Amino acid sequence: MNIIHVSSYEELSRKAADIIASQILMKPNCVLGLATGSTPIGTYQNLVKKYQQGDLDFSTLTTFNLDEYLGLTGDHPQSYRYFMNDNLFNHVNVRPECTNVPDGCAADPKAYGLAYDQAIADMGGIDLQLLGIGNNGHIAFNEPADVFVAETHTVTLDKSTIEANKRFFNSIDEVPTQAITMGMGSIMKAKKVLLIANGAAKKEAIEKSFYGPITPEVPASILQLHPDLTVICNLD
Ligand code: GLP
Repeated sequence: MNIIHVSSYEELSRKAADIIASQILMKPNCVLGLATGSTPIGTYQNLVKKYQQGDLDFSTLTTFNLDEYLGLTGDHPQSYRYFMNDNLFNHVNVRPECTNVPDGCAADPKAYGLAYDQAIADMGGIDLQLLGIGNNGHIAFNEPADVFVAETHTVTLDKSTIEANKRFFNSIDEVPTQAITMGMGSIMKAKKVLLIANGAAKKEAIEKSFYGPITPEVPASILQLHPDLTVICNLD
């Protein structure tokens, strides 16, 4: 585990983008696991800049996103599909058909989740997984629970997660209460994991996740067992 402390969001975003860019340069047909939330926005901006400067080519890679709100279609401005198109995919030369975001409106989410995991496995697994972290230590939408769930599955969001994410919606009543999320299986099987955390609100989650016991009550703590984990934090 490599924990890097930086002193600004800009530095965090630059470093994270550099790591992702190196992955793409080393393996142009790599599989990237991507994350949403406010934290990765600066990372994506840096990647777009590198693409615009001609330093990065996205045309042969494949992406799988971590999660999606249940009930939101991809054209809903708060859906994670919309977020990814808006913050990254529409600005680089990734092939749209090679970008995967879980379908929040799948008729049979259980079967869909298994198929999503299989699609990742069929691509040879994820080469580099980018993660944010929730204030309660959640990763993707794996909320604190009694057990770690391996497969892509549906979850009921924690009150604290709904509270934290209401800033993106007109009112708290509009925040979906359920989501579909990659489980720990595909995340832990990723060859490399890069977790980014920004702001004082994430301090406790980082301490509990990486300096405390491994427990599903703190979902990110399982990453202590990952053989190639980098954490970049700006916690001031
Ligand atoms: C959501 C996402 C997570 C993300 C978290 C933190 O819950 N499902 O993947 O890590 O938000 O978001 P932020 O970066 O905005 O703090």
